[in-house]
Amino acid sequence: MQIDIITLFPEMFEGAFSYSILKRAQTKGHVVIRLHNLRDWSFNKHKTVDDYPYGGGAGMVMMVEPVVRCLEELRSKTTYDEVIYLSPDGEMLNQPLANQLSTRQNLLILCGHYKGIDERIRTHFITREVSIGDYVLSGGEMAAVVLTDTIVRLIPGVLNDETSALSDSYQDNLLSPPVYTRPADFRGLKVPDILLSGNDKEIAKWRYEQSVERTKQRRPGLLSK
Ligand code: 6GU
Repeated sequence: MQIDIITLFPEMFEGAFSYSILKRAQTKGHVVIRLHNLRDWSFNKHKTVDDYPYGGGAGMVMMVEPVVRCLEELRSKTTYDEVIYLSPDGEMLNQPLANQLSTRQNLLILCGHYKGIDERIRTHFITREVSIGDYVLSGGEMAAVVLTDTIVRLIPGVLNDETSALSDSYQDNLLSPPVYTRPADFRGLKVPDILLSGNDKEIAKWRYEQSVERTKQRRPGLLSK
């Protein structure tokens, strides 16, 4: 898979993509993540990428010309399955959407900033708008990190144990059961006996029941799906 990210702040991604699973996925060649600084497609020596909104009002708007020049150059070299704009107005990111996007070959992600992007970019160049939740972020970069992480970990071969993504919370609309590690008794706080029993069948049953119970308590809406 190839993921191209257009951003005003490429440095914000460097730490996020340099550790753990995202790092290993790149090292092992499962994904190529390319960061593009929108200012490189500005049309003047001041590297302007935003301007005041027509009709007045607070905040700046990302201009159509730098974004489209950038999109056109990238699209001349790669055919993208989706051109995604990260915005609080978008469809909500959830596990089914992450699963779907993880099957694509080439994704282009545009991170918005300021008051947003010129509407003509959205109507003519964006194929999909995605939000990561009902709250406001200062820009699309953090959302792009979240989206990239959810997608990349699902690419076959990225996780060590190929089945482990399947037991994640949400993959079957159930939250994960509680987990414990050593010691079995920490200052009188004990690990449930069943987990020490060695009875795999009973342990699987217990975990399933705990998942259902936890989902009922915390996210009953998931159970009706
Ligand atoms: Cl994708 N962008 C911004 N700026 N805020 C958000 C968001 C995205 N998703 C939730 N809040």
